[in-house]
Amino acid sequence: MNPVIRFMSTDDIPAIVLADRRILGQSLGEETLRTELADNPFTHYFVMEDETTRTFLGHVGVWVDAPLAQIINVYVVPEHQRAGLGTFLMEFVLAFLRDRGCNTLTLEVRPTNAAGLSFYRKFGFTKVAVRKQYYENGEDADLMLLNF
Ligand SMILES: CC(C)(COP(=O)(O)OP(=O)(O)OC[C@H]1O[C@@H](n2cnc3c(N)ncnc32)[C@H](O)[C@@H]1OP(=O)(O)O)[C@@H](O)C(=O)NCCC(=O)NCCS
Repeated sequence: MNPVIRFMSTDDIPAIVLADRRILGQSLGEETLRTELADNPFTHYFVMEDETTRTFLGHVGVWVDAPLAQIINVYVVPEHQRAGLGTFLMEFVLAFLRDRGCNTLTLEVRPTNAAGLSFYRKFGFTKVAVRKQYYENGEDADLMLLNF
């Protein structure tokens, strides 16, 4: 396995929507992602895949307005979790954001997402607020902050 990360293209949209729904339970959807890629200069979406087989391994999207940035979505496919790929993806994103003059990164996570919380804490994120009824099912979100 040799993971590489590249910019997402419109050809990736159907696979990303399926993976979003499978892994996160929700997706921005095809139309919104198409508009995002074409028209939103503040957002950047990436695909992680195996260099040789092109097997899809994970995805991350960030909103950037330096010095502030926000993670829109981040995940690793379940078949390849707990193998360091999430760390690889997050280190890539932090380097990408540093290059663009960012030093503050936020994200929302479900308080019931033990793996996600543990993952973010490992990178130094701390909980700074609760966003009430943030998710489609009415669940609150923890707002996490990292100064880097
Ligand atoms: C969160 C996520 C991206 C981590 O990806 P990953 O490739 O499994 O992460 P890594 O293998 O790099 O693990 C890094 C650290 O995260 C933490 N972690 C990851 N999975 C964990 C789990 N299931 N339980 C507890 N801690 C976990 C650990 O601290 C781990 O370090 P360690 O392996 O030294 O213990 C992945 O679990 C995922 O995609 N989850 C579903 C989507 C999701 O929840 N995304 C974030 C929501 S906002």
